[in-house]
Amino acid sequence: MYTVPKLDDYSPAALDKAAAELMAALQSEAAALNSESEWKAFRDRWLARKNGLLTQINESWLKAAPADYKRDVGQRINALKSEVKTTVEAGHLAALYHSSSPSEQKEILGVVALRKSEFEASKLEKERIDITLPGVTRPIGTKHPVLRVMDEIVAVFTAMGYSVGEGPEVETDYYNFESLNFPPNHPARDTQDTLFIAGQDSKPARDRLLLRTHTSPVQIRTMEKQPPPVRIVIPGKVHRNDPLDATHSPVFHQVEGLAVDTNITFCDLKGTLDHAMKALFGSSVKTRFYPSFFPFTEPSADMQVSCIFCGGKGCRKCKFSGWIELLGCGMVDPNVFEFVKHNGYDSSKISGFAFGMGVERIAMLKYGVEEIQLFYEGDVRFLEQFA
Ligand code: PHE
Repeated sequence: MYTVPKLDDYSPAALDKAAAELMAALQSEAAALNSESEWKAFRDRWLARKNGLLTQINESWLKAAPADYKRDVGQRINALKSEVKTTVEAGHLAALYHSSSPSEQKEILGVVALRKSEFEASKLEKERIDITLPGVTRPIGTKHPVLRVMDEIVAVFTAMGYSVGEGPEVETDYYNFESLNFPPNHPARDTQDTLFIAGQDSKPARDRLLLRTHTSPVQIRTMEKQPPPVRIVIPGKVHRNDPLDATHSPVFHQVEGLAVDTNITFCDLKGTLDHAMKALFGSSVKTRFYPSFFPFTEPSADMQVSCIFCGGKGCRKCKFSGWIELLGCGMVDPNVFEFVKHNGYDSSKISGFAFGMGVERIAMLKYGVEEIQLFYEGDVRFLEQFA
């Protein structure tokens, strides 16, 4: 006679084997039954709520199963239970049928038909799905406003035939400073609030690593790779040891531009940037160029746009000047071309202009954002306004 074994292995294979043994025992016990009373006893032995074999399975297999296996064991026991129930009941009905009078047999067939339709109905119910339930919507998100403005700036220049370049954020002293005409120990380096990588002292000065303070090193990297003519825009992340305030962040973004060819003049610089500002801020915006200094451009200028808040009349945003300073630019200094002379950059034959603008600053002006931190906090209530 079958007794419920204790399980110590709860792997799927072990559970399959235990289930198969149980079903085999059930079938062979059923085959040996002769009378209606034997069928009743058989039924109780397997199905009785109190101490029937199925109840024992619950007690011994499910309760003893390790936590991780409980779900699987529970599902298997449920399937086994319904299989045992159907086998016992079907067998019982069949035995009853054979030992019955024709009128009782008719009744039994009626019961069978009823069971069958109940079974079908419950199967259908299990498969029912409610197609009127709303689906799970997953928010897709949107481009971050800084990236969006950066892409917009880049698109203005690609439309004028510029290609797009990139360079590393961890840069050498050579590309960030030396080749841009910042000699070692030159005071102009102080303006860049540089974050240096530690442990570089054993290297020659020009090979020491730092976090690039501007995208200008990619000017040199581009000219090393490609002889003139060049028209390139360079979007990227830059780092400065600046304390965080309403308009400064130690990590921010720039878009750099470089055009080198024969006969490039300051007029080309002005015309190009004036067009770009009109494309970004609207056709009524004006530009003006103020003398400035960068070691890698000569002459250098700060470009200002007419105040986009008051149209140039003067307001708090433009400190009542009517103008807002937006970017640095200038004609490429011949000393810079010296570093790439071997690649066709002869300053007696070619000239160029360069510019660099802060993306956050432009985004703040475009969207009237007053705190730069809002771009980095990741607050969805802020970000979704740009969706
Ligand atoms: N690299 C300069 C800065 O970050 C901007 C600049 C770029 C100026 C190109 C002139 C030419 O301040």
